[in-house]
Amino acid sequence: MTVKLKPKQTIIALDISSLEEIKRLLAIIDKDLFRLKVGKQLFTSQGPKAIDELRSLGFDIFLDLKLHDIPNTVSKSLANICNLGVWMSNIHLLGGQEMVEEASSTVKKLNSDMILVGVTILTSLNENNLVQLGFNSSAEEIAVNLAKLGKQNGIDGVVCSTEDISGIKASLGGDFLTVTPGVRMLQDNDDQKRAGSIYDAIQFGTDFVVVGREITQAKNPEGVLKKIESLIV
Ligand code: C5P
Repeated sequence: MTVKLKPKQTIIALDISSLEEIKRLLAIIDKDLFRLKVGKQLFTSQGPKAIDELRSLGFDIFLDLKLHDIPNTVSKSLANICNLGVWMSNIHLLGGQEMVEEASSTVKKLNSDMILVGVTILTSLNENNLVQLGFNSSAEEIAVNLAKLGKQNGIDGVVCSTEDISGIKASLGGDFLTVTPGVRMLQDNDDQKRAGSIYDAIQFGTDFVVVGREITQAKNPEGVLKKIESLIV
């Protein structure tokens, strides 16, 4: 079965600290085909000005700070994020029901059209790591459970691994968004223990895929981009 990607369904994780390096990469990224993710690495190095620069070039930005703190701190920080004009941002669902509820109502009160998603279980954690952390259920069960908590408390979707997409879509419906990081065109041995292929993620029905180092650390990033572009219809 051939896998097809929609324009802007692929989000490129700009996990790079230097703006110069990012500018070199941006020269080969088409804003009509890809969205960009700014995470903790770029944000702690360049701050909100990185968002302004990328937005001025016409890119949609997913600000991935995975907010996880007491409800008041998360909601005040999210209000600041809404003012940055990003397309999507996130919280960590392990922050609990009150935190999630306050976060989603903050975005609604500001009449912001920013999409708010929740992180379930990091794709770098496997079942052994979860046992070490004191969880007794499987990664998928925890992810589905957290996704339910998110939906009940007003967020738009979740960040989840390839393995968890089907369970989340089956329990929460196709309209509840899934964003899937840790996907690979080629398989690789890095810190993503629950990485899947981009092809599986799309077939399981995810709404967005996130690709980082496979592009940013590639010897030939243009080649990887062209390969992804060849799937876009
Ligand atoms: O380089 P790689 O493709 O593994 O990058 C994945 C990106 O997605 C990173 O920016 C990482 O912070 C992010 N992410 C993740 N797992 C989550 C949530 C976000 O890998 N559960």
